[in-house]
Amino acid sequence: MCGVFGYIGEKNAVDVCLSGLEQLEYRGYDSTGIAGVHQGTISFCKKAGKLSELKKVIQMQPLSLAIAHTRWATHGKVSDQNAHPQFDEKGSVALIHNGIIENYNVLKEELRTQGVRFASETDSEVIAQLIAKYYQGDFLEAFHKTLSRLKGIFALLAIHKNHPDEIVASALHCPLAIAINEQGTETILSSDPCTLIGDNYNVIFLQSGESAKIQKGKVSLYGKSLEQIDKKSTRIEGSSQKPSKGSFEHFMIKEIFEQPLTIQKASLNIEHRMAPTFELFRDASRVLFLGCGTSAHAGQIGTLFLEDFVGIPAISEIASEARYRVSLMEPTTLCIAMSQSGETADTLSALRAVQSHGCKTIAICNSLNSTLAREADTMIFLQAGPEISVCSTKAFTSQIATLALLGIRLGKERKTLSLKEEEQLLQALERIPSEVQCVLDQASWIEKMAQKYADFNNFFFMGRRYMFPTALESALKLKEISYVNANGYPAGELKHGPLALLDAQFPVIAFCANLATEEKIVSNLMEVKARGAPILAIAPHHLTSVKEIADDVIWVPDTLDPLAPFASTVVGQLFAYFFAKTRGCAIDQPRNLAKSVTVE
Ligand code: F6R
Repeated sequence: MCGVFGYIGEKNAVDVCLSGLEQLEYRGYDSTGIAGVHQGTISFCKKAGKLSELKKVIQMQPLSLAIAHTRWATHGKVSDQNAHPQFDEKGSVALIHNGIIENYNVLKEELRTQGVRFASETDSEVIAQLIAKYYQGDFLEAFHKTLSRLKGIFALLAIHKNHPDEIVASALHCPLAIAINEQGTETILSSDPCTLIGDNYNVIFLQSGESAKIQKGKVSLYGKSLEQIDKKSTRIEGSSQKPSKGSFEHFMIKEIFEQPLTIQKASLNIEHRMAPTFELFRDASRVLFLGCGTSAHAGQIGTLFLEDFVGIPAISEIASEARYRVSLMEPTTLCIAMSQSGETADTLSALRAVQSHGCKTIAICNSLNSTLAREADTMIFLQAGPEISVCSTKAFTSQIATLALLGIRLGKERKTLSLKEEEQLLQALERIPSEVQCVLDQASWIEKMAQKYADFNNFFFMGRRYMFPTALESALKLKEISYVNANGYPAGELKHGPLALLDAQFPVIAFCANLATEEKIVSNLMEVKARGAPILAIAPHHLTSVKEIADDVIWVPDTLDPLAPFASTVVGQLFAYFFAKTRGCAIDQPRNLAKSVTVE
């Protein structure tokens, strides 16, 4: 993970870097740091903890060039020493790194035997030390020699005290954008173009193995064999403002409340946006959904849509496991990669694996300029707007709205849905934003429920059919921001072992909004009740019998089974939010996590 950022231009680079780090903090918030060259020495400040900690202590003189980093720890604990920038032992080189150097141990040993002393536990420090070792007056040459020794994945920026006017950079399987403003007066290097604010920019995305030397108003690019290359730039409008919480206390609750709108936006102009995917479906014998976490849960719902509306065999696989399941990767397998960020390393690796077996790929993604969007054969853009809270909410409902529309459209084309079924589904889908609004209107009741259950430390979330991925997603929300043990289960599976855990201290949250399996979930509730576990049911209005069984009920609007995940998921999101708030957890930036997971 980690975010790298660099600036050369007319403004004070320290201020620009601090502002860039604010935008990149979603990529990790274990530590932050900034470095530049001042009067022939490296000037820097770095600090363990969130950016706010760095801001408390930073006292750097204004600079015209600087590099900056926000860390999600991989190698070495969270400490000032392990924060980036990392340096060579003489302090000539400052380096920031996103990624992992797999052969760092070998390189470290080699340097140690030559007498080099290391100051940190990071894998990244070897890169700075190697650059210094190879340096004989030509910084770029030393950098290139170093690159040839590295195994792993990286986006790197480095500066040298003898070269106060240049930043060298390289990327291997990690995103790195170089943006030059229209006047050519400022150059920004960043892990994510979301940091571009105000101006319009010409942006070059470094491809794997490429490197660059950046000087004021000048960018020199190099290919894999270090030959000088030209690359086309993409014009990107910098956003007019930084993301803000508005009147909300946290980004998570703001993003939950945006959903009536973002679900609508996911369907805007959808026929046109989906059109390039139809061709790919024509030759597909089956569909493989790839994703991680919340995006994998959206893929699970996608499999049900495709099977129910279109009759195409579909499976969903966790991206980090999919790449080993080579038998799934026939050229007629169509792969749909789900990702909010479009930068998740596991999803990208799985995508590349299926592509290497000749499969066509579709990305469903919330970032237009992401690596996934660029590497897939085609993409459907979610248009949900930036999702800042680490805990994903609105991206999920936009993903399933998109998948529902895709399924309905394909069902129409293949005549696997009758005209009546298609109309019923489309009408029900149109009602979803107002049904989600109904759930949001019950926020204070859901908050009461969350407060009532906030002392428990173990939960089962259960559901059947469409409510099973919904239960998985809601359990993930709770565990990730509250640090309690919450497991999603298919309701029918509880009796095959997990039921043994239940007692009065182990509540079950039951998702009941799947008409086709209603009687069965009611029986499962009875089984849970017989073991004395408290039950909180999330049930559709018509299922009044639940009142007699569950201790508490949160009601959701009646809808068709395939569309029930929307309202029920929003209940799960609000429950997790208020639960975490009651327990005083860091909601938008939960411990140990980062928004964009760029390492495998
Ligand atoms: C959970 C969450 C994560 C992400 C996962 C994939 O709330 O945010 O589980 O869903 O890391 O991220 P993307 O969708 O960006 O590929």
